[in-house]
Amino acid sequence: MNEALHLNLAGIPLTNPVILLSGCVGFGEELATLDGFDFASIGALCLKGTTLEPRLGNPPPRLAETPCGLLNAIGLQNPGARFVIDRILPRLAHLPTRLIANIAGSTIDDYAAVARLFDDSPVDGIEINISCPNVKEGGAAFGADPRTAAQVVAAVRQATTKPIITKLSPNVTDIRPIATAAIEAGTDALSAINTLMGMAVDSTTRRPILGNRQGGLSGPAIKPVALLKVWQLHQVAAPHGIPIIGQGGIASTEDAIEFLVVGASAIGIGTALFRNPLLGGEIATGIALYLEKHQIAHVTALTGTLNNA
Ligand SMILES: Cc1cc2nc3c(=O)[nH]c(=O)nc-3n(C[C@H](O)[C@H](O)[C@H](O)COP(=O)(O)O)c2cc1C
Repeated sequence: MNEALHLNLAGIPLTNPVILLSGCVGFGEELATLDGFDFASIGALCLKGTTLEPRLGNPPPRLAETPCGLLNAIGLQNPGARFVIDRILPRLAHLPTRLIANIAGSTIDDYAAVARLFDDSPVDGIEINISCPNVKEGGAAFGADPRTAAQVVAAVRQATTKPIITKLSPNVTDIRPIATAAIEAGTDALSAINTLMGMAVDSTTRRPILGNRQGGLSGPAIKPVALLKVWQLHQVAAPHGIPIIGQGGIASTEDAIEFLVVGASAIGIGTALFRNPLLGGEIATGIALYLEKHQIAHVTALTGTLNNA
């Protein structure tokens, strides 16, 4: 336990600022079987996107590797909120880390209904995914317009007293008005970025590689885009005291520090976990060493310290 890494993220007390991202750790069950994985080494675990009804997801193939990136079109496969709460959460609730639900829906009422179910569960916070590029209805459609984004956030705000985090899409011309709308509607924190829309094509068959034709790009390839969006978000979120979970391509301690410097209070790791599932703990240790080396007393002192900004 390193006190210099402790932080209160919009009401969620974290032992360190490292969060394992939704869709990249399932519901934590595989991590639990890994040699050397320690849940206490990470600040929080974000659960797979959960909808009101179970979803089978998109037709395969659902993954395609690209240079420095990964395209996915899972399509929010999940067993439904009731199953997650009744059957999966009881197995996770004892873990020495914080749990964040990640919710999605096809209608505003769906989001509110899932939030209401999670409100009566042991999760520490609820992340609203209004940025999934891989479903036909809902998802990113809500996050592309400040008015609909605000409606979803306001409906979830009504449905729960738990901290809410709004996860934003980079697939917009300007992310700032969406963030402002989410803040005014009552979000406690922001999370960015979700994946960038992309496509992969097989030149021999001239067919799309993904069953869904299009997918979401993640991994190191998207880091420069993510850094810019987090920096822009910090400009509108900081005056309201709203923290940001920075993410998109983080694969090392240096990457994590860059996100903190442009304005993130916590950082998320997703795609890089497929190569090294222990990376979260390693980056938390790396951040602690960086603070020591640069004689910075606490991780919160790094947020938004970009020089020459
Ligand atoms: C296979 C896969 C599944 C994902 N599923 C979800 C999801 O269910 N809900 C969500 O909000 N984000 C989901 N994401 C997005 C990640 O949580 C993360 O925001 C994004 O991948 C950027 O971070 P990264 O580059 O570190 O992976 C998924 C990403 C991947 C690669």
